[in-house]
Amino acid sequence: MLVLGVESTAHSFGVSVVSDSPPYILSDSRRVYTPREGGILPREVAAFFSRVAGEVVREALESAGVRIGDVDAIAVALGPGMGPQLRVGATVARALASYYSKPLVPVNHAVAHVEIARFLTGLRDPIVLYVAGGNTAVVSYSEGRYRVFGETLDMPLGNLLDTFAREVGIAPPYVVGGMHAVDRCAEGGDFIEGLPYIVKGQDSSFSGLLTAALRMVRSGVRLADVCYTLREIAYSSVVEVLERGLAHTGRREVLLTGGVAASKILNDKIEAMARVHGAVYKPIPARYAGDNGVMIAVTGMAAYKWGYTIEVSRAFIRQRWRIDQVDVPWYYEFP
Ligand code: FE2
Repeated sequence: MLVLGVESTAHSFGVSVVSDSPPYILSDSRRVYTPREGGILPREVAAFFSRVAGEVVREALESAGVRIGDVDAIAVALGPGMGPQLRVGATVARALASYYSKPLVPVNHAVAHVEIARFLTGLRDPIVLYVAGGNTAVVSYSEGRYRVFGETLDMPLGNLLDTFAREVGIAPPYVVGGMHAVDRCAEGGDFIEGLPYIVKGQDSSFSGLLTAALRMVRSGVRLADVCYTLREIAYSSVVEVLERGLAHTGRREVLLTGGVAASKILNDKIEAMARVHGAVYKPIPARYAGDNGVMIAVTGMAAYKWGYTIEVSRAFIRQRWRIDQVDVPWYYEFP
């Protein structure tokens, strides 16, 4: 069985073809929008996606060595994400499904981040920290769905890092050589007092931290010290939530996924925490931490095998589609 997956929720337009037999991942084509300055403007990204969509689909098929006619189903991330970008991916996937008479499979982007991590590590029943520019949550599976054991009350962790870096003038580019601008800036920094560490129950909050950190920089505190302290507080607060989730659920496996999962420093913190609890931690390759078409294709294949398809005329995008709104009946049979 072959499934083609389309990802377009944020800054990456990705298309992949996967098979249900080795080597599984047949292709992984992507184009990432990088703003020359400032943050992401959804309309500009959507225009960029529209320009590259055709060549990315063609490249994914060619490097997989298959024709669109060979594909059994088209999977697409319908949310959560930004509307203008989601609409491009959905339009491309609907057009392919409709023109080539292929079943269309709806995929939740957050579920796909978790499933690609399970798929690549072989960990079957983990507690998961999902940290990205658009999401921050601790999730684990229970009774048919991923359940949220803590999430951000305001901005996602990735957004905190990006916004801070942009405001103090050390980004874009946000990530170079696998290191975020804040991680680079933190080198040689020391921990300083005065920034708020906020965990409410099982939930994190970062907007107060951002405001306080920016105020410190503007009042002349050494940038490296603020970067270091901001990062330590942000990472430690999500690891704290993850640790309590691990203890509460009694899981024996820990995963980290989402764009911020590429961070070596966050990986090290989680590995150290897991070791204390005798739990297994396996990092995912940095290439699959951020958004990609493979995760949509892999999850779409599992969903398709369980009979999940959607009519082209009903395949609307869902910008706020939560991970705990999605049934995952394939959980124990995957990967
Ligand atoms: Fe993502």
